[in-house]
Amino acid sequence: MSTRGLDNLTLARKEGWQQFVDAPARTRPEPLSTRKIRALGEAARNDYDRRRREWHANLGPLRTPQLVALHEDLWDIVDSNAHDGDKAKGAVAIDAFPGPGKTTSVLAFARRFHRREIAEHGPLTPEGHQRWPVCRVGLTGNTGLKDFNRAMLEFFAHPGTNRGTAALFAARALDCMTSCHVRLLIVDDLYFLRWRNTSGVEISNHFKYIANEYPVTLVFVGVGLARRGLLDEIDAAGDPVLAQSGRRTTRLGMEPFLVDTAARCCWPSSSAWCWPAHGRGCSPTSCRTTCSPARPDTSDR
Ligand SMILES: Nc1ncnc2c1ncn2[C@@H]1O[C@H](COP(=O)(O)OP(=O)(O)OP(=O)(O)O)[C@@H](O)[C@H]1O
Ligand SMILES: [Mg+2]
Repeated sequence: MSTRGLDNLTLARKEGWQQFVDAPARTRPEPLSTRKIRALGEAARNDYDRRRREWHANLGPLRTPQLVALHEDLWDIVDSNAHDGDKAKGAVAIDAFPGPGKTTSVLAFARRFHRREIAEHGPLTPEGHQRWPVCRVGLTGNTGLKDFNRAMLEFFAHPGTNRGTAALFAARALDCMTSCHVRLLIVDDLYFLRWRNTSGVEISNHFKYIANEYPVTLVFVGVGLARRGLLDEIDAAGDPVLAQSGRRTTRLGMEPFLVDTAARCCWPSSSAWCWPAHGRGCSPTSCRTTCSPARPDTSDR
């Protein structure tokens, strides 16, 4: 599979997800001197410029310290959730300020997880269905729980998205997840869900149902999830009903990118990924002993 057409994919459908997962690593256009660029014919120059545009628009994901730390935690949690489907699995909430790369990091992780599952178990389930280890649901603004359930169905292009109650949609989604052996359910921008009451009991209960009934590890991504009550143990009335979901959910944060001496230590100092120099008194060797420098994430776990 090539990287052609990736500009027209949507991760809201499983076909788009497959294109994303199967796309090969991009190759960097060879660096040409100004003289050589000027000497190119018009067609060659256009092609070279297009390849440079695409390369720069799609850099990464870089193995930033934030990404590396998040992946370590996610592998630990997902791998320790390998128990049988009768046991409720722990969930993860990635809760951080806007913009540090939550979505980018989670998608990079999910891509590797998807590939690993297919490599280990094959593309088909024992019943002959497509194996689909990851389902990713992106929410639109002001989504209700019924729309959320419908979004899960739309990922699988299920025909039954027009009519039905929220409970029916949830049951159909359960069929899809169990048939396709989904193991990771990513809910991006969770804070778009309509929080009907300040304590979020309804949403908490819905995700408890999913954690109990679906054989998946839930990964919530969003901003201010703790503030909205997703991880609380008691609701506004002092009822401990929220603790059932809250205690099962591990909260992971992401540090913001700072431009100070300590942060610069984690920036690479050489190679094509060269960024400005290390802080004073700091060498690449000493830096690498304390943190991992950012590099393109090309490895497959
Ligand atoms: N590890 C990375 N390597 C390369 N680019 C990255 C990396 N992390 C983030 N970016 C870039 O930073 C921008 C913001 O990233 P992203 O959308 O993942 O952040 P976010 O935390 O999910 O933001 P939001 O809270 O708005 O959803 C994007 O353009 C993304 O390509
Ligand atoms: Mg995001």
